[in-house]
Amino acid sequence: MNHGSPLDDLSAIAAVDPHGARDVLARFPEQCRAAVTIEAPSLPPMKRPRVVVIAGMGGSASAGDLIAACAAERVEIPIVVHRGYGLPSVAWDETLVIAVSYSGNSAEVLSAADAARARRVPFVAVTAGGALAEMAEQRRQPCVRVPGGIMPRMALGSLFFPMARVLRALDVDVVSGEEIAEGLDVVEALRPELAPERPAASNEAKRLAQAIDTRWPAVYGGPVTGAVAYRWKTDFEENAKVFGLAGALPEMNHNTIEAWRTALARQLHLVLLRDDREEPEIARRFELLRDLVGSAAGGVSECRARGRGVLARLLSLTYLGQWTSYYLAVLRGVDPWSVPTLDEMKRRLGNG
Ligand code: PA5
Repeated sequence: MNHGSPLDDLSAIAAVDPHGARDVLARFPEQCRAAVTIEAPSLPPMKRPRVVVIAGMGGSASAGDLIAACAAERVEIPIVVHRGYGLPSVAWDETLVIAVSYSGNSAEVLSAADAARARRVPFVAVTAGGALAEMAEQRRQPCVRVPGGIMPRMALGSLFFPMARVLRALDVDVVSGEEIAEGLDVVEALRPELAPERPAASNEAKRLAQAIDTRWPAVYGGPVTGAVAYRWKTDFEENAKVFGLAGALPEMNHNTIEAWRTALARQLHLVLLRDDREEPEIARRFELLRDLVGSAAGGVSECRARGRGVLARLLSLTYLGQWTSYYLAVLRGVDPWSVPTLDEMKRRLGNG
């Protein structure tokens, strides 16, 4: 009789995951390495932008969040991630618009591309194909074509690195070469620790999924890792089909913290994304948060970022979140790949 974790039964995992999301996640390090070498398209002569707007939705937008989170530590111009139709009012002169849509068919991103053209704002598309690639080709606008065939949220590396490369070509350096090299090494080192073959006893993602179990995950990061907390939430929602909450310190200390002392908190699992480089003030806030609300929560887990540079820290936490939501899907017996309701919404909008 097998008394081990259900997450250690590889054939049971395969039965829940007929599309092989586990293989795509396992190849994430290779995806990132390959993406680093994708050439930036030749850009029309333009000055260094004073504002960058990254227009995207869902998984594609989260690659933009990662760019903005890296940039926050070193770049002096604003990088705005725009999730919606059209473009924000800031996108006029001296702005670069990056329209990122993995499928190339998100209506919001196509409308952002139209708005950029109407406003004559410099524009680059990043996509695996679809209407966005066609539009860029017809209009002779620069377009980075990334490899297709997987779910957009699982293509984070393919979307992030080309955007960083485009920005570097315009003298907006969101990550250094050393930070990229470290980020690649860190995700590669993490892979065997998180993959299905590693038993739950020593697999952080499996253990975390088991700890969350039937509760709802509520994920909080600090000022830098807050973007990753949001990504965990959306991965839980899309992969495991479970509600997720997300937020960042210090802001949640000024609002959400109050809800954590209510009876409902028992149904939530608090996940804290910690980072050895967080400021002492933020570390203190995390400790106090645990003290104040930990006993009210259904459970509490803490995850540590790996690496020194910002990219390694963000990617390591993101990769852990991808696997954790994957295993939560397996525990719940749901296919982590398909997103039928999301697809139905797009279909009804005529936006597949
Ligand atoms: O990961 C997913 O499937 C979604 O979050 C998509 O990224 C989202 O619907 C937007 O689609 P796309 O990334 O193709 O523009």
